[in-house]
Amino acid sequence: MKRLGVNIDHVATLRNARGEKHPDPYTAAKFAIKSGANSITVHLREDRRHIKDKDLKIISSNKSITLNLEISANIKMVKIAVKNKPKYVCIVPENRKEITTEGGLNLRKNINKIKKVVSILNKRKIRTSLFINPNIEDVKITKKINANCVEFHTGKISNLVKEKKNYKEELKKIIKCCKYAESLGIEVHAGHGLDYKTTKILSKIKQIKEFNIGHFIIGESIFFGLKKTIKRLKKISS
Ligand code: PXP
Repeated sequence: MKRLGVNIDHVATLRNARGEKHPDPYTAAKFAIKSGANSITVHLREDRRHIKDKDLKIISSNKSITLNLEISANIKMVKIAVKNKPKYVCIVPENRKEITTEGGLNLRKNINKIKKVVSILNKRKIRTSLFINPNIEDVKITKKINANCVEFHTGKISNLVKEKKNYKEELKKIIKCCKYAESLGIEVHAGHGLDYKTTKILSKIKQIKEFNIGHFIIGESIFFGLKKTIKRLKKISS
Protein backbone atom coordinates (compact mmCIF):
# COMPACT_ATOMS: atom_id res chain seq x y z
CA MET A 1 0.00 0.00 0.00
CA LYS A 2 1.58 3.30 -1.06
CA ARG A 3 1.01 6.41 1.01
CA LEU A 4 -0.47 9.60 -0.40
CA GLY A 5 0.76 12.96 0.84
CA VAL A 6 -1.49 15.86 -0.10
CA ASN A 7 0.24 19.18 -0.67
CA ILE A 8 -2.09 22.04 0.35
CA ASP A 9 0.13 24.98 -0.68
CA HIS A 10 -2.36 26.05 -3.32
CA VAL A 11 -5.22 26.27 -0.85
CA ALA A 12 -3.10 29.04 0.67
CA THR A 13 -2.45 30.49 -2.81
CA LEU A 14 -6.20 30.85 -3.27
CA ARG A 15 -6.72 32.32 0.18
CA ASN A 16 -3.90 34.80 -0.30
CA ALA A 17 -5.39 36.00 -3.58
CA ARG A 18 -8.02 37.78 -1.46
CA GLY A 19 -5.84 38.41 1.57
CA GLU A 20 -8.59 37.05 3.81
CA LYS A 21 -9.17 33.76 5.61
CA HIS A 22 -10.98 31.55 3.13
CA PRO A 23 -10.17 28.86 2.01
CA ASP A 24 -8.33 27.92 5.18
CA PRO A 25 -5.34 25.55 4.75
CA TYR A 26 -5.81 24.06 8.24
CA THR A 27 -9.42 23.13 7.44
CA ALA A 28 -8.17 21.64 4.15
CA ALA A 29 -5.50 19.64 6.00
CA LYS A 30 -8.03 18.13 8.41
CA PHE A 31 -10.45 17.43 5.57
CA ALA A 32 -7.75 15.79 3.42
CA ILE A 33 -6.76 13.47 6.28
CA LYS A 34 -10.42 12.59 6.87
CA SER A 35 -10.71 11.81 3.15
CA GLY A 36 -7.84 9.30 3.24
CA ALA A 37 -4.62 11.30 2.83
CA ASN A 38 -1.78 9.74 4.80
CA SER A 39 0.06 13.00 5.33
CA ILE A 40 -0.13 16.68 4.58
CA THR A 41 2.68 18.53 2.84
CA VAL A 42 3.31 22.25 3.14
CA HIS A 43 6.21 24.16 1.64
CA LEU A 44 7.17 27.14 3.77
CA ARG A 45 8.91 29.19 1.12
CA GLU A 46 11.44 31.82 2.05
CA ASP A 47 9.20 34.44 0.37
CA ARG A 48 6.06 33.01 2.12
CA ARG A 49 4.13 33.24 -1.14
CA HIS A 50 1.57 30.65 -0.06
CA ILE A 51 1.90 28.89 3.32
CA LYS A 52 2.61 31.35 6.15
CA ASP A 53 4.26 30.76 9.53
CA LYS A 54 0.88 30.88 11.25
CA ASP A 55 -0.44 28.08 8.98
CA LEU A 56 2.55 25.93 9.84
CA LYS A 57 2.08 26.61 13.55
CA ILE A 58 -1.57 25.59 13.64
CA ILE A 59 -1.19 22.54 11.37
CA SER A 60 1.88 21.25 13.20
CA SER A 61 0.21 21.69 16.59
CA ASN A 62 -2.44 19.12 15.63
CA LYS A 63 -0.58 15.88 16.19
CA SER A 64 -3.27 13.79 14.49
CA ILE A 65 -2.03 15.31 11.22
CA THR A 66 1.16 13.70 9.92
CA LEU A 67 2.98 16.71 8.57
CA ASN A 68 5.64 16.74 5.87
CA LEU A 69 7.33 20.15 5.86
CA GLU A 70 9.26 21.20 2.77
CA ILE A 71 12.02 23.72 3.33
CA SER A 72 15.18 24.92 1.64
CA ALA A 73 18.53 23.98 3.15
CA ASN A 74 18.75 27.26 4.99
CA ILE A 75 19.59 27.32 8.68
CA LYS A 76 16.80 29.82 9.45
CA MET A 77 14.26 27.42 7.92
CA VAL A 78 15.74 24.49 9.83
CA LYS A 79 15.27 26.39 13.09
CA ILE A 80 11.60 26.92 12.18
CA ALA A 81 11.28 23.19 11.43
CA VAL A 82 12.84 22.20 14.74
CA LYS A 83 10.51 24.57 16.60
CA ASN A 84 7.35 23.21 14.92
CA LYS A 85 8.41 19.55 15.09
CA PRO A 86 6.81 18.10 11.93
CA LYS A 87 7.12 14.34 11.62
CA TYR A 88 8.82 14.62 8.21
CA VAL A 89 11.00 17.24 6.53
CA CYS A 90 11.81 17.26 2.82
CA ILE A 91 14.68 19.47 1.70
CA VAL A 92 13.97 21.16 -1.62
CA PRO A 93 15.86 23.64 -3.79
CA GLU A 94 14.45 27.12 -3.83
CA ASN A 95 14.76 29.92 -6.29
CA ARG A 96 12.73 33.04 -5.64
CA LYS A 97 11.95 33.64 -9.32
CA GLU A 98 10.62 30.15 -10.05
CA ILE A 99 6.90 29.46 -10.37
CA THR A 100 7.32 26.06 -8.72
CA THR A 101 10.16 23.75 -7.67
CA GLU A 102 11.60 23.27 -11.13
CA GLY A 103 14.10 20.50 -10.45
CA GLY A 104 15.85 18.50 -7.77
CA LEU A 105 18.58 19.63 -5.40
CA ASN A 106 22.10 20.23 -6.66
CA LEU A 107 23.62 17.84 -4.14
CA ARG A 108 27.17 17.92 -5.48
CA LYS A 109 27.36 21.70 -5.09
CA ASN A 110 25.59 21.91 -1.72
CA ILE A 111 26.67 18.69 -0.04
CA ASN A 112 28.12 20.23 3.14
CA LYS A 113 25.19 22.55 3.74
CA ILE A 114 22.61 19.80 3.18
CA LYS A 115 24.56 17.29 5.27
CA LYS A 116 24.54 19.70 8.20
CA VAL A 117 20.78 20.30 7.89
CA VAL A 118 20.03 16.56 7.67
CA SER A 119 22.20 15.86 10.69
CA ILE A 120 20.31 18.46 12.80
CA LEU A 121 16.96 16.94 11.78
CA ASN A 122 18.11 13.32 12.19
CA LYS A 123 19.22 14.11 15.75
CA ARG A 124 15.67 15.29 16.47
CA LYS A 125 14.21 12.10 15.01
CA ILE A 126 12.50 13.94 12.18
CA ARG A 127 12.33 11.81 9.02
CA THR A 128 14.51 13.44 6.39
CA SER A 129 14.02 13.35 2.67
CA LEU A 130 15.91 14.95 -0.23
CA PHE A 131 14.08 16.10 -3.36
CA ILE A 132 16.35 15.02 -6.21
CA ASN A 133 16.28 14.38 -9.92
CA PRO A 134 16.28 10.70 -10.80
CA ASN A 135 19.99 10.02 -11.24
CA ILE A 136 22.29 7.44 -9.66
CA GLU A 137 24.96 9.96 -8.63
CA ASP A 138 22.47 11.90 -6.47
CA VAL A 139 21.20 8.70 -4.86
CA LYS A 140 24.81 7.88 -3.89
CA ILE A 141 25.25 11.35 -2.38
CA THR A 142 21.92 10.99 -0.51
CA LYS A 143 23.36 7.88 1.15
CA LYS A 144 26.54 9.79 2.08
CA ILE A 145 24.45 12.63 3.52
CA ASN A 146 22.53 10.10 5.65
CA ALA A 147 19.02 11.17 4.66
CA ASN A 148 16.29 8.61 5.36
CA CYS A 149 14.43 9.06 2.05
CA VAL A 150 14.66 10.41 -1.46
CA GLU A 151 11.80 12.03 -3.30
CA PHE A 152 12.34 11.76 -7.04
CA HIS A 153 11.27 14.83 -9.02
CA THR A 154 8.74 13.51 -11.53
CA GLY A 155 8.30 16.75 -13.47
CA LYS A 156 10.04 15.48 -16.60
CA ILE A 157 8.05 12.26 -16.97
CA SER A 158 4.83 14.10 -16.12
CA ASN A 159 5.41 16.62 -18.90
CA LEU A 160 6.27 13.89 -21.41
CA VAL A 161 3.08 11.98 -20.57
CA LYS A 162 0.94 15.12 -20.71
CA GLU A 163 2.43 16.09 -24.08
CA LYS A 164 1.84 12.52 -25.34
CA LYS A 165 5.58 12.10 -25.99
CA ASN A 166 7.67 8.98 -25.47
CA TYR A 167 8.33 8.67 -21.75
CA LYS A 168 9.82 5.14 -21.70
CA GLU A 169 13.48 6.23 -21.28
CA GLU A 170 12.60 8.54 -18.39
CA LEU A 171 10.54 5.77 -16.79
CA LYS A 172 13.47 3.36 -17.11
CA LYS A 173 15.74 5.91 -15.44
CA ILE A 174 13.28 6.36 -12.56
CA ILE A 175 12.92 2.59 -12.08
CA LYS A 176 16.70 2.14 -12.04
CA CYS A 177 17.11 4.89 -9.44
CA CYS A 178 14.26 3.53 -7.29
CA LYS A 179 15.83 0.08 -7.23
CA TYR A 180 19.26 1.47 -6.45
CA ALA A 181 17.95 3.70 -3.63
CA GLU A 182 16.10 0.79 -2.07
CA SER A 183 19.21 -1.39 -2.27
CA LEU A 184 21.01 1.25 -0.19
CA GLY A 185 18.23 1.25 2.41
CA ILE A 186 16.80 4.62 1.34
CA GLU A 187 12.99 4.93 1.29
CA VAL A 188 11.67 6.10 -2.07
CA HIS A 189 9.05 8.78 -2.69
CA ALA A 190 7.92 10.56 -5.85
CA GLY A 191 6.34 13.90 -6.58
CA HIS A 192 5.83 16.90 -8.85
CA GLY A 193 3.40 17.36 -11.69
CA LEU A 194 1.56 14.10 -10.97
CA ASP A 195 -2.03 13.53 -12.07
CA TYR A 196 -4.17 10.40 -12.39
CA LYS A 197 -2.35 9.14 -15.47
CA THR A 198 1.21 9.68 -14.29
CA THR A 199 0.42 8.36 -10.83
CA LYS A 200 -0.98 5.21 -12.40
CA ILE A 201 2.19 4.71 -14.46
CA LEU A 202 4.46 5.20 -11.45
CA SER A 203 2.29 3.16 -9.10
CA LYS A 204 3.66 0.04 -10.82
CA ILE A 205 7.08 0.74 -9.28
CA LYS A 206 7.01 -1.24 -6.08
CA GLN A 207 9.92 0.64 -4.50
CA ILE A 208 7.90 3.87 -4.36
CA LYS A 209 6.34 4.07 -0.92
CA GLU A 210 4.87 7.56 -1.02
CA PHE A 211 3.50 10.04 -3.55
CA ASN A 212 3.31 13.74 -2.77
CA ILE A 213 0.79 15.53 -4.95
CA GLY A 214 -0.48 19.10 -4.79
CA HIS A 215 -1.46 21.24 -7.74
CA PHE A 216 -3.49 18.57 -9.55
CA ILE A 217 -5.47 17.66 -6.42
CA ILE A 218 -6.42 21.23 -5.63
CA GLY A 219 -7.28 21.96 -9.29
CA GLU A 220 -9.32 18.78 -9.72
CA SER A 221 -11.16 19.52 -6.47
CA ILE A 222 -12.75 22.55 -8.11
CA PHE A 223 -14.69 20.13 -10.31
CA PHE A 224 -15.08 17.02 -8.17
CA GLY A 225 -14.28 18.00 -4.59
CA LEU A 226 -11.29 17.20 -2.40
CA LYS A 227 -12.73 13.99 -0.99
CA LYS A 228 -13.51 12.36 -4.36
CA THR A 229 -10.17 13.42 -5.82
CA ILE A 230 -8.17 12.03 -2.89
CA LYS A 231 -10.14 8.78 -2.87
CA ARG A 232 -9.60 8.31 -6.60
CA LEU A 233 -5.87 9.00 -6.33
CA LYS A 234 -5.54 6.64 -3.36
CA LYS A 235 -7.20 3.90 -5.39
CA ILE A 236 -4.94 4.52 -8.39
CA SER A 237 -1.71 4.81 -6.42
CA SER A 238 -1.96 1.85 -4.07
N1 PXP B 1 7.05 17.16 -3.89
C1 PXP B 1 7.86 18.22 -3.69
C2 PXP B 1 9.15 17.99 -2.98
C3 PXP B 1 7.47 19.51 -4.10
O1 PXP B 1 8.30 20.56 -3.89
C4 PXP B 1 6.21 19.68 -4.71
C5 PXP B 1 5.77 21.05 -5.13
O2 PXP B 1 6.58 21.52 -6.09
C6 PXP B 1 5.41 18.55 -4.89
C7 PXP B 1 5.85 17.31 -4.47
C8 PXP B 1 4.04 18.67 -5.48
O3 PXP B 1 4.09 19.05 -6.80
P1 PXP B 1 2.72 19.36 -7.55
O4 PXP B 1 2.11 20.54 -6.90
O5 PXP B 1 3.14 19.60 -8.96
O6 PXP B 1 1.86 18.12 -7.40
